[in-house]
Amino acid sequence: MKLESRFLLIFTIAIVLFVIFGLLIQYFVIIPAIEKGESTIVKDDYARCIKALQDETIFRLAMAIENRDTDTGEHIKRIDKMTVLFCEKIGIESEDCIKYGLASTMHDIGKIGIPDSILNKPDKLTENEYSLMKKHCNIGSNILDGSKIDILNIAKEIALNHHERWDGKGYPSGLKGENIPLSARIVSLADVYDALSFQRVYKKIWSLEKIIQFLQESKCGIFDSELVDLFLAHIIEFEAIIDKYKQK
Ligand SMILES: [Fe+2]
Repeated sequence: MKLESRFLLIFTIAIVLFVIFGLLIQYFVIIPAIEKGESTIVKDDYARCIKALQDETIFRLAMAIENRDTDTGEHIKRIDKMTVLFCEKIGIESEDCIKYGLASTMHDIGKIGIPDSILNKPDKLTENEYSLMKKHCNIGSNILDGSKIDILNIAKEIALNHHERWDGKGYPSGLKGENIPLSARIVSLADVYDALSFQRVYKKIWSLEKIIQFLQESKCGIFDSELVDLFLAHIIEFEAIIDKYKQK
């Protein structure tokens, strides 16, 4: 065999081996890696998308309810942020803090069953109107009942119990002390603090001094005293939330 022919043969074999080696790398290393990488990205994106959709739907549903008796949806944003802050201060894991925050936005979802004439009445409610208003806890609980989604189960717990009082004089069940779920104790305090910080159809704004005095006096009466102490110890951070999400 001539030198050129031998060189050509060796060159061809080298090219074929190179191509075969390249194909082997592509089929057994690169493609599986890309597929693995791509499927992970797709799965992550899908999960993120579903989670965002879930959070947004919950928030907008809560907002639709809140808009009936407050000026804007800012109220539920503040309740969300304050609940998260409470949970963080208690030492709850950050993922759960976010869940509790989102669940808290649905605390008054049962108001969907209460007439506007009662929700927006500027005067004191009659006894009958007040009994009807109190039903929003059970209505909310029924709406959220039986879900397999964690956040909705927490939301149900909050919707049912956020008007219970530490001393057992709340509604709808008259639960006392730690029998009231922590989530509902937190939202109860955040909700009252928020209501006192803004004007409503039935009341004027309270000064911070007056709110602090009220909360001090409500320890072991309306509210869990440990939560009131925690709140007062971090009141600047809670005030910052009120300030950041003011009604527009
Ligand atoms: Fe309520």
